Amino acid sequence: MSQGLLFDSADVFCARSTTQVTFKGKLGRPIHRWYRLTPSFSPQLALDIAQHFHLSGKDRVLDPFSGVGTVPVCMKYSGIPSGAIELNPYLFFVSAVKTRTYHDVGAVKSCFETFLQRLRPHLRPLKALDAARQYLDKHAALVPPIHRPGRWWSPCNLAQLVAIRRHLLENLGEYDFPDLLRMAVLAILVPISNAKHNHVSLTFADRPQPPLDVWGVLAKKLREMAADLENVRGKPCAEVQVFRGNSKLVSRVLPRSVRVSAVITSPPYPNRFSYARETRPHMFFFDFIPSAKAVGQLETEAIGGTWGKATSVLAKGVEPTNEVVASLLRPYTDRIGKSGRLMANYITKYFNNMYSHAQEVAAVCRPGAKLAYVIGNSRFYGHPLPSDEILAAIFEHFGFALEAIHKMRRRQSKSGLYEALLLMRGK
Ligand SMILES: C[S@@+](CC[C@H](N)C(=O)[O-])C[C@H]1O[C@@H](n2cnc3c(N)ncnc32)[C@H](O)[C@@H]1O
Repeated sequence: MSQGLLFDSADVFCARSTTQVTFKGKLGRPIHRWYRLTPSFSPQLALDIAQHFHLSGKDRVLDPFSGVGTVPVCMKYSGIPSGAIELNPYLFFVSAVKTRTYHDVGAVKSCFETFLQRLRPHLRPLKALDAARQYLDKHAALVPPIHRPGRWWSPCNLAQLVAIRRHLLENLGEYDFPDLLRMAVLAILVPISNAKHNHVSLTFADRPQPPLDVWGVLAKKLREMAADLENVRGKPCAEVQVFRGNSKLVSRVLPRSVRVSAVITSPPYPNRFSYARETRPHMFFFDFIPSAKAVGQLETEAIGGTWGKATSVLAKGVEPTNEVVASLLRPYTDRIGKSGRLMANYITKYFNNMYSHAQEVAAVCRPGAKLAYVIGNSRFYGHPLPSDEILAAIFEHFGFALEAIHKMRRRQSKSGLYEALLLMRGK
């Protein structure tokens, strides 16, 4: 392709199917299927963007909002060096574990089998309610410190989880692949819980789960993971680095020498979805976070965070940090603010943060860098908020030219909500 021109991308990116945009596209794909994060995007989208940008081994891609690592996993197996940043300690862990290379798959398999064999006798008796209750009383100190664990898991399932947690806390050092074991356990926490995935956010089912064969569920997950590692064994891999950090400060999180030629990412949408809330069971299970207070702090630092403590920060009032954000938001926050000041503050904080982020991205980009941002628009009290256009205008302020905004998919029919892809190009 000639330097400086992107061909008409509407055919590839407009009116895509759900599996070509959303998490549904990763359900059957090796490695991608290890953990379900509903607001994550389809590997096919990352691959199509990379192809559209004509990326190669000479490029360096950044995903500053890594989530479960969709972009770095795709880049790794496409031979394109990449880096990713994630704020949430649990999602950072998922991205890091999925992007590692496991050379000796035989050793991984035998580690999994040893673990399963050692675990089985501990879990089998706990499918009986009395035994489960007694076990939970005896090992109360090992119940994950999440608020109301009994709401999340029925007693027999919780007792089996506590037994797994106990076994791993006591023996983790004896296993050669402790993070893969932790990954598998974390991946089954929600499937065996009383929560369900009917909405983007988790909600609790009306009826709790019956006692399950948790060992069997875990064995299935570990075998799936082993099969996936077998599947990618020997494939050429590019370098990947995943960093835990805040993408409002990209230039401080990345090593100073890193200059990126493309950004492929999806920031949180301004829709009040809370990644911290959604990942509480996981964060508390293996102590990724020390306390409920730290979850509140994480949510306050997250872009688009609004849950718990983050809401009280908004209640104090938020002003645009500069005239660019003020003038872009005024038409929307004036209207939305009349119905609810808190939401106007929420939107202001969101775009103040995205402004800082865009400034930082500009600082780490090579000349002519290509940017792809996937973002959904929002609606507050019936008033639309064109997040895609506002974000594009912020990047234009930092010298990026807008190539196209493609509406990829409607999010709820007739609601006017959609997911858009912004394609931009640096000077
Ligand atoms: C839409 S999700 C990205 C999903 C990702 N594309 C995937 O397929 O898994 C947005 C991510 O941004 C993360 N995030 C929120 N605020 C952040 C910040 N200030 N710095 C870095 N990551 C942040 C959230 O924890 C979440 O994982």
